[in-house]
Amino acid sequence: MLVSAAEMLKKAKAGHYAVGQFNINNLEWTKAVLTTAQECNSPVILGVSAGAGKYMGGFKVVADMVKAMVESLNITVPVAIHLDHGTYEDCYKCIKAGFSSIMFDGSHYPIEENIAKTQELVNVAHALGLSIEAEVGSIGGEEDGVVGMGECADPEECKKIADLGVDMLAAGIGNIHGKYPENWKGLSFETLDAVQQLTGEMPLVLHGGTGIPADMIQKAISLGVSKINVNTECQLSFTAATRAYIEAGKDLVGKGFDPRKVLAPGYEAIKATVKEKMELFGSVGKA
Ligand code: 13P
Repeated sequence: MLVSAAEMLKKAKAGHYAVGQFNINNLEWTKAVLTTAQECNSPVILGVSAGAGKYMGGFKVVADMVKAMVESLNITVPVAIHLDHGTYEDCYKCIKAGFSSIMFDGSHYPIEENIAKTQELVNVAHALGLSIEAEVGSIGGEEDGVVGMGECADPEECKKIADLGVDMLAAGIGNIHGKYPENWKGLSFETLDAVQQLTGEMPLVLHGGTGIPADMIQKAISLGVSKINVNTECQLSFTAATRAYIEAGKDLVGKGFDPRKVLAPGYEAIKATVKEKMELFGSVGKA
């Protein structure tokens, strides 16, 4: 069932668990995430970055594929298709393409401009029944060419953006996209706590879910995080399983070269990673 992310995140915040956003890259990825969500009876958010959208042939291709797959595979758990770190222009493209949720990342703008653009997009998204995520304080690391310094958000600015009526708010708390460096200082729970104190019921989003230790994830959920984004970890498990298949020479045996066989171990590896995260986030059985 394709829905906006608003209701599932309100329920997650009230129920003290988090819904996973898993970024998708192709048909296999999409099918792996959707079938695992169904098996786990968990709500799920499919994340699509601008780069991944372009790779798959455009936002409309992705939206139509997800809709068709939800229908054909009888996926009855709540599924949102969400633009990840969208520019102002990409937000409009995804609204037009049929996404059910968007993220406007205005974190690199001066706060007044972030507020003005976010407000406009909140009005448009809500008029059409989509949910919208905004960001304050950029997330560290590099994702699809977008480089952030990993700053901690100013809680007062978070409150200003939350008050615009967004459905979920990403606040930088020292989190980084991709693998965490050896000398990473960990999440700033002080910042998270201060943001939650000011934003109350607002579902908070933790980006850079890959490689954050389980105890930190649980503490973040206890401090109001209701959506956790995971991208790199599925890529790592997919690639490791594909490498093992090739290195074992399985592609050279019989019809082992068939792409459906070559991609099968990676597909199963994504499913295992998604299941593990859904269990950790507490969303299993919450559909
Ligand atoms: P990771 O790639 O670190 O899991 O981050 C994903 C993310 O935050 C997508 O917005």
